[in-house]
Order: sequence, then C-alpha cells, then structure tokens
Amino acid sequence: MASVQAVSINFLPAATGITESPLFSWVIGSCGRNCVQRAYQVQIAGEETFSEVLYDTGLVAGECSAHVRVDDFIPRQGRIYWVRVRVVTSSDTEDDLLSAFSPPAKMIGGLEDPQSLMDQFITVEGPEDVMKARGTYIRRRFSLEKEIASAVIYSTAQGNYQLHLNGKRVSTDELAPGWTSYDERLQYQSYDVRDFLTGGENVIGAHLGAGWYKSTLSFLLIHNFYGEYAALSLTLLVTYTDGTTQTVITDADWKGDYSPVLNAQLYDGETYDARLEQDGWNEPGFDDTRWMSVRSTPCTSKRIEAQVGSPVTLHECMAPTRAFTTPKGERVIDFGQNMSALVEIRGVGKEGDTVVLRMFEVLDRDGNVYTDNLRSAQQRIMYTLKDDRPFIYRPHFTFFGFRFIHVESFPGRSDLDGFRAYAIYSDMEKTGSFECSNPDLNQLQHNIEWGLKSNFVDIPTDCPQRDERLGWTGDAQIFCRTASFNVNSYAFFSKWLRDLALDQAVIGGVGHVVPDVLNKYPVENPMLKNGTHSAAAWGDAAVVNPWVMYLTHGDTEILSRQWDSMKGWIDFMRTHSEGHIWNYRLQFGDWVALDAEEGSYFGATPNDLTCTAYYAYSTGLFVKIARVLGKDTVADEYESLQRDIISTFRSTFFTEDGEMTAQTQTAHILALHFNLVPEVHRAKTLERLKKLLEKENGHLVTGFVGTPYFTHALSANGALEEAYDLLLKEDFPSWLYQVKKGATTIWEHWDGIRPDGSMWSPDMNSFNHYAYGAIGEWLYRVVAGLEIDEASPAYRHSIIAPRIGGNLTWVRGSFRSIYGEVSSAWKVDTGTGKSIVTLTVSIPANTSSSIRLLDGAVLVDGDGLDFARQGEMLEAETGSGTYCIRYTL
Ligand code: BGC
Repeated sequence: MASVQAVSINFLPAATGITESPLFSWVIGSCGRNCVQRAYQVQIAGEETFSEVLYDTGLVAGECSAHVRVDDFIPRQGRIYWVRVRVVTSSDTEDDLLSAFSPPAKMIGGLEDPQSLMDQFITVEGPEDVMKARGTYIRRRFSLEKEIASAVIYSTAQGNYQLHLNGKRVSTDELAPGWTSYDERLQYQSYDVRDFLTGGENVIGAHLGAGWYKSTLSFLLIHNFYGEYAALSLTLLVTYTDGTTQTVITDADWKGDYSPVLNAQLYDGETYDARLEQDGWNEPGFDDTRWMSVRSTPCTSKRIEAQVGSPVTLHECMAPTRAFTTPKGERVIDFGQNMSALVEIRGVGKEGDTVVLRMFEVLDRDGNVYTDNLRSAQQRIMYTLKDDRPFIYRPHFTFFGFRFIHVESFPGRSDLDGFRAYAIYSDMEKTGSFECSNPDLNQLQHNIEWGLKSNFVDIPTDCPQRDERLGWTGDAQIFCRTASFNVNSYAFFSKWLRDLALDQAVIGGVGHVVPDVLNKYPVENPMLKNGTHSAAAWGDAAVVNPWVMYLTHGDTEILSRQWDSMKGWIDFMRTHSEGHIWNYRLQFGDWVALDAEEGSYFGATPNDLTCTAYYAYSTGLFVKIARVLGKDTVADEYESLQRDIISTFRSTFFTEDGEMTAQTQTAHILALHFNLVPEVHRAKTLERLKKLLEKENGHLVTGFVGTPYFTHALSANGALEEAYDLLLKEDFPSWLYQVKKGATTIWEHWDGIRPDGSMWSPDMNSFNHYAYGAIGEWLYRVVAGLEIDEASPAYRHSIIAPRIGGNLTWVRGSFRSIYGEVSSAWKVDTGTGKSIVTLTVSIPANTSSSIRLLDGAVLVDGDGLDFARQGEMLEAETGSGTYCIRYTL
C-alpha cells in the first residue's frame, strides 16, 4: 500500500518566516520493490482539516519527489498554512496506486517588510545598565474584540528574550533570537499565537537578558560586543474571521521593570533573587502603574531576516546518577553524561537562603572538583529563596557545559531529587543511527552524538563550557559530514554559512570563528595581531560545508547562495599564494597534534604543506560545484588551477623517488586522501604511512587536519585492516582510549587525561569538543557502507558498499534521507571456517542504488538481484526495497 509518510518544507518538518514558495520534498512509504512515483499532488490549506483548499497542483505526472516548488503559491504574512501530498506509484507488484494524503506539515508566513522591526526596538535599560547583564521585563495590555482567524507574532531582540502571552510562554525556544553576526543581521522569530489569545483584555510580556549581544564573549572577555541595551522589537498581527486585522507593536505604550535576574552571562551563569519576583507580571490584572516607561533604542543590525528553522530548545531531561562527597569534602552531583544543559533545582528552605552551584566537566586525579579547564568561565547558579515554600528554578539566559555539579550551598540536604538537567541544543531531527557488536564503538558513537548535541547550540561551537564557545570554522568543517549523518543539520548550517559569508572580509578571507568576534575587534593580542583570519582547514568551511549540504540534501540553492563566498575564499588563497604554494599569516596547522613540540599546540606538519593541500582540495570541490551550477567556463578555469596546484604540491612535497618532504602521518594522509600523490608513488606513500604508524606502535599522532581522514586514507588505498586496527586501538592515544577512560563526549586532546591520570594544560583542555568525532563519517560511509553518489545526491541514487572487518560480527547503519530511510546491516558468521556475510539493505521508494560487495566477495544468494563481477567487486543495480544478500569472503 503506497503512502506519503512525511512532507518536508525547505528540508524541515515545519517552516516559519516563509515569504517565498518553499521547496517541498516527501517520503513515500514502502510500496514494494522498484517503487517509483508516477505523479504527485500538492495541496495547501489555511486549516489543518483542509476544509478549504487554497492551492492545489492537481495530479502532476513525473518522478520528482524532492525539491518541488509550486511557483504560483506565495505565503502571506500573518497566515498559517498546511501542506499535504499524495502520489501515484508503480512497483514490481502494483501499477498506478494512488496513495492517501500525507499528514499535513505546517508553515508560517513571514513578514512582508521585516525591516519594519528595525524601528521598533524598546528597552527599559538606562545608561547605568550598560555594563550590567540584568534581566528586564516589559509588558503591554491590548484588547481583542472580534473572532480571531489567525494570530502571528514576529519578534526579535537585541539580547536574548522569552515571550509570554497571558501568563504563558508562547514557544519552547531558548536563547532566542539565536546568534548571528548581529552587526550584519538579526533573525526574527514567527510564532503562531492564536491559541494563547482570548476575547477582551490580553497581555503580552517579554523577559529580556544580555545574551550574546552584550554578555562577555570569547577568551578576550569582551563585553557589549554588539551593543549596550537589551531591547525587544515585535509585531503581533491578528486576522479576524471577517478579514479585518489588528496590529500590536512595540512602542511607547509598553512598560518595564527589572526582573529577579540580577546577572545572566553566557559563560558565568545566572544570579537570581526570588524575592524580586512579581507574581502575574505577564498576565492581565497586574498593576504596572509603578513600572517604568520604555524608551526606543536604535537597531544595531544592518538588516533583519526570518529565522527559518532549528531554534534552540530543551531536549532530554536527565536525572542525576549519584551524589557523593569528594576527598576534599565537596558535595557533588553526577549526571553520568557530559552535555550542554540547563540545571533545574527544587527544594525547601527559608527566605534569604541561597543555592550556589558550580557546573564542571571532570574530577581531578584524586577525585576532587576540577574547574581549571573552564578558565575564567564561572558556570554558576546563585539563587536566593523568597520564602519557606517549596521552590523550583531553572535559569533563563545562560547554559552550562558539564557533567557534574559542585553544590557549594543548598538549603537542607541536597539529594538527587533536587536536580535535573535539561539538555539544550538546536532542534534538529535525528537522521542517522550506527551500532555494532563492539560496545566500545557504540559508546564512541554515543560520544560523537553527545559532542554534537552539546556543541550545536545555535552555532557550531568548539566547546560548551570554557570562556570560548565560539563558531570555530575548522571544527565545523571537519565535523560537518559526520553531523550530516546524525542529524538534519541543513537549516543549522545554512544559517551559519550565511553569517560566514557576511563576515567574510572584503578580500574573501574567512574568519577563524563565525560570527566573527576575533577579527573585528582591534586588540593587542599576540595571537590575533590586530586582526587575523583565513587559516587552512578553517576557512575551507566556506566550500566544504555547502558541498556537504548539497550532497546530503541535493539542494543546489545553497550552492548558489554561497557562490560568492566560496569563490571569494578560493580567490583569496589564489591571490595570497606564491607559485601555487599557499600560506598566510597565522595558521593553526595540524592543530593539537601529538607530534607537536612539547607544550605546543601546533603539529609537526609544515604549514605550507597543509595549506596547499587544502587549497587543492577546496579548489577541486569548487570545480564540482561550478559544474553542478552549470558554470562551465568558471569550472574549466579553476580545474586548470587545481591541476597546477596539484602538480606544484607534487614537485614541492615529494622527492623524485617518491618520499614526502615531511615525514609526518598527516602529510601522508592529506596526500593520499586529497589525491595529491603522484600515481606512481601511491603504493610507496601508503607504505610510508603504515611505517609511520608502526613507529608509534600503531597509534595516531595526528591533530585536527590529519585525524578526520586517517582511516579513509588507509581503507581507500588497500589498507582496510590497518584502518580498523587504528579505529579499535584501546590504549593511549586513540578514540577508544577516551572511551575506556569513561568519556561520554569527545575530548579536545588525545591526552586530555593521560594514562597516569594527569591532565594536559588547563588552558586548552575541553572534554566536550566534537572535532575528533569526525571519525563518525567513516563508520557510516565505510563500516556500514552508506555512500552518496555525487552524480545523484541526497541518496536519490545511493551506493551501498560496506567493508567487513575489525572482528565486528554485526553492524547496523541507517540514514533518513529526504526520500526516506536507507539502511545497511551486516552480520558475519564464521562458524564454518569461511566468513559468511549476510547483508540486509533497504532502499527508499523512488530511489535506486548500486550495491557493492567488496574485498573479494563470492555470492551465495543475491535475493533476486543481478550481481556482476568487476575485479575484486560484485555489483548490482536496484530500485527500492529490502534485500537480504549472502556472500562469502
Ligand atoms: C578551539 C579550537 C579551535 C582552535 C583554533 C581553540 O581555542 O577550542 O577548537 O579550532 O582554538 O586553533
């Protein structure tokens, strides 16, 4: 029976702030083998019941089930829409089946003139508040007299805000409006608020905090980076059933006061005095006569744009696993999981009692509280009770990176029931899963997922705990492909890439962090040298991340949107290279590699090698992108540039007899993985890499640049066994060493905690950095074998090519693509002496796949598929369906 399981709007399950006809894609439910779509019908209505259809494509013949735009439908502001789809399919078993309609997906029309919000900012803060980070309340009464058809709030803030209508929070968003390059652009949110309103008097209220706008930011501890006053701008648009409208905006009619939040900073936490609470402040009937008048304040951004998806929200609610007292006598609560979260506390005491908590990641060697690696970040809650009734409190304008709580003060006994942690991260659907017979690898996958969750708090951060939490471009670049398997990161990355482009220096250079709070601030810091940007592997996020989004979602529009940014970056490298060798000012090189000199962060691979390797790699991707967009003249020009870079790389970094000038693991990895090796020397380069591994007793000593590709460089060049050995190493340094040491997220340093229990320097020792989690893509792409065909991306045509190894007896990997779930599961039976592999694959409807059995497979049962041998490989082409294949190795 054919069905349409889900419709996505601009690759999201629901979309807000839509002003142009969006892209629709849908997942066709199982309807047998070789199921293809013959026709589709899209309907749009203003009600979930579809009692009146506003737009109907009728049945449109064709196989297109993704990236469908209905050009003549333009969403209107203040309106809510629902979209549903049905399809006609044919498969091996049934022809021309008409499905039922899909469940409806929701869209909220965006503001026609978002710049109108620029003139409406109001604040209650005055000059005395500029250097503070206090919370403020603002509120306004208004009256509604007629029957409401729809009501939408468009709102944003300079600072962070939480919105209330008649005493209730209107959304689950946290840290709204999110962090963009505020001087360039600010996002507004769109909230459907019809159900919050009543006839007669209503009250709208907002709680404002400093947020990224004026909190202390970066290790330079700069405050008021973007502005001085926390302010709100809002338009409520009510449409009555008779077609008339009513508008409420932020203006002089609002009133304001200080809230009980005495101080809320992103790094330092929140101080809250419950004695300052004002019951009913956000409800009708509250007496606000002694509240202050608000004043208008200028917008400090050049433009305001809609937020289209992935707001930050709360997710898992974690209960502590234990409470204990350290040898030093410190009371500690353990959640058993490192994460980004908000702590919620409950208890009873008396007026004036205080709760003081400090959140931290790890215990020291002796089992005591360890906070040195937080650097200046306080990560503290200070809460003062207002009376002797039970209290419950969760902070408003901060978040913490932690596993443990040090209970510095708590009324009465602090037991487990008094504490909960709500994981906080950008709202993204989980799309991937990977599990296997090795529990340590499963824990590694778990750690990768939690590293992702903890560091996708509106921007891709390096770490969530110390005084940094910045959008380091290198970390986001190397982890992007892994992220794109585990979650739907399309909206998240397309938002961030927009800021990357806006912050790009005029000359095309790319910031080390986005939003760029390092390069734009003139400061005498030896590392920043009055402005620094454009490091190899970091700046390349400009090209790699859009490319990964294209591969994963098949969206060419992100490539068009980022075109100038990508070209700007390639041209920047071109302009600043000499004879095709690129290098530029401050480089991070193979950051934090273990072959660095004692105490240094910079790995041993020379910068001109890593820079030029990345220059060749990104230029190659840019050529592919130009071809996808039909810009063949540009593609031809940059293809010839790429050839020149590669040939210079070969003549510079290889001797005539095929030795690399830099005898580091990373140099060989880059040369192999980016195809920079002279073909005649490929085998020799691989042998050298194996030797360099042997020299370290099979361990990696690579940093941010070499590590992500190490296993790829081995497995793609005939060294599958060595790749698995490397992955499965358990002693220091290795991925599983961390696991064996009890890690629940990915560490920044291989030697974060050394075998003797000592730690790497507290200056730079995060236990929640996703970067080395970039190994995750190898698990999906090589171990499970879920590979994208670049010629037909987004798994429209997939390549399933698992590599059996590592003594794993079974593996299951799946990815929910825009067409539906593609999965590969294998198990190995060695009972009879030979390895018999049973491979079960699922290919979504309306897609096709090449199933490849590698490494000398001999077919036992092809489940009806027609396998042909090509050297060491058996290959079959198929359409949708589930197939169970057996072969021997
Ligand atoms: C960050 C890294 C980042 C690096 C740049 C560090 O402080 O935490 O993850 O990429 O600086 O070198």
